[in-house]
Amino acid sequence: MKKINIAASGYLYDSMDELSDSDKKLMQAAIEATKSSYAPYSNFNVGAALLMEDDTVITGNNQENAAYPSGMCAERVAIWKAGSSFPNKKVKKIAISAISNNKTVDKPVGPCGACRQTLLEYEVNQEEPIEVLFMGEIGKVVKTESITSLLPFSFDSSYL
Ligand code: THU
Repeated sequence: MKKINIAASGYLYDSMDELSDSDKKLMQAAIEATKSSYAPYSNFNVGAALLMEDDTVITGNNQENAAYPSGMCAERVAIWKAGSSFPNKKVKKIAISAISNNKTVDKPVGPCGACRQTLLEYEVNQEEPIEVLFMGEIGKVVKTESITSLLPFSFDSSYL
């Protein structure tokens, strides 16, 4: 037996100001997307913005439901919007931001496990990494080089 270390990895920026102009623009699109989130139950508004291979941007936000489990996260709304409308376009990046009515979100909000798994499917299929950038309402930004680097020991279609 030997110990192995497979860790999530990424880069930490002190603020959005440190991002490249194009990353900042994508993050701004995610922030803008939080404004049309439908989150009357959690009051936690998440926005996601995808940068596609042709440099178009597709956004999504969380959509909640009175039957709570029927709601959906911003990241999956965005990736399914892209996958359903433009199945042949690759995704280069996803930026995620969140704002709450209850408190200041000052920590980077990473995608939930189910969203990581969903995003991985698209990354594996397109055979090119999808960069992930995430932040709260203010403060630090995390950037990872791929979905895979956020999901060690992941499961994909190669097992089937
Ligand atoms: N949420 C997202 O949209 N993305 C995540 O990765 C985490 C959580 C949403 C789901 C729900 O509407 C609210 O945030 C509170 O969990």
